[in-house]
Amino acid sequence: RKGRTPEEVVKRYLQKVRNSPEEDCTICMEALGGPSAYKGPGVASVSRAASVGRLAQCGHLYHLQCLVAMYNNGNKDGSLQCPTCKTIYGVKTGNQSPGKMEYHVIPHSLPGHPDCKTIRIIYNIPPGIQGPEHPNPGTPFTARGFPRHCYLPDNEKGRKVLRMLLVAWDRRLIFSVGTSSTTGESDTVIWNEIHHKTEFGSNLTAHGYPDYGYIDNVLKELKAQGITEDEEQQL
Ligand code: APR
Ligand code: ZN
Repeated sequence: RKGRTPEEVVKRYLQKVRNSPEEDCTICMEALGGPSAYKGPGVASVSRAASVGRLAQCGHLYHLQCLVAMYNNGNKDGSLQCPTCKTIYGVKTGNQSPGKMEYHVIPHSLPGHPDCKTIRIIYNIPPGIQGPEHPNPGTPFTARGFPRHCYLPDNEKGRKVLRMLLVAWDRRLIFSVGTSSTTGESDTVIWNEIHHKTEFGSNLTAHGYPDYGYIDNVLKELKAQGITEDEEQQL
């Protein structure tokens, strides 16, 4: 990725579009046949020749300049996500701050999974100073409720979820820095878009067991972050 400009990154995921389409660009709401409404830094210089791009896999159309503006607004990790259908191009990473992920098997069963033991994951993230990828760079962030303990059934599906969570951790996708919807506190470490079960023997918070839909739901959430069931093999 070194040396690649945002325009070059975006163009890797595009196909050429010959005729100007009739529709509007859903990023800037202006006609695809006309110019992009975005004029920010790094956008003005984007070549006007190929002004509309088609995302190669999903086929959605946008102004090239709008895609570059969107890329510049993110964490610039070389990946791009279609804002319409969420198809991911490249490898999506997040802004999780440094910490530790550990796991082990405990010899007890979860409610609803009487026939197997339990995987306990322990996440530990200390407070720190926000980096350029966070909402308020240079200012401190807090980290509440750590170590956070999470549980999975120690069966085939649960172990698959664990392997995918390890990939998600490496890609900094498990936590983020922002405002907690539970406590309202800002500039703090929060769960990202992958649900975890933090209650072991009861279900007082609705983040416990039994929950028969949980495993399939979390597999969907992992997929939405670009982590697929074959990628876990690469670990
Ligand atoms: N356990 C697991 N997931 C939770 C919990 C919880 N106790 N509370 C909220 N979530 C889920 C929410 O459903 C949402 O999808 O995390 C996502 C983000 O919610 P926030 O409240 O913004 O996240 P955060 O502040 O990190 O979590 C609140 O979770 O693990 C506990 O100690 C933690 O008490 C804190 C609580
Ligand atoms: Zn799309």
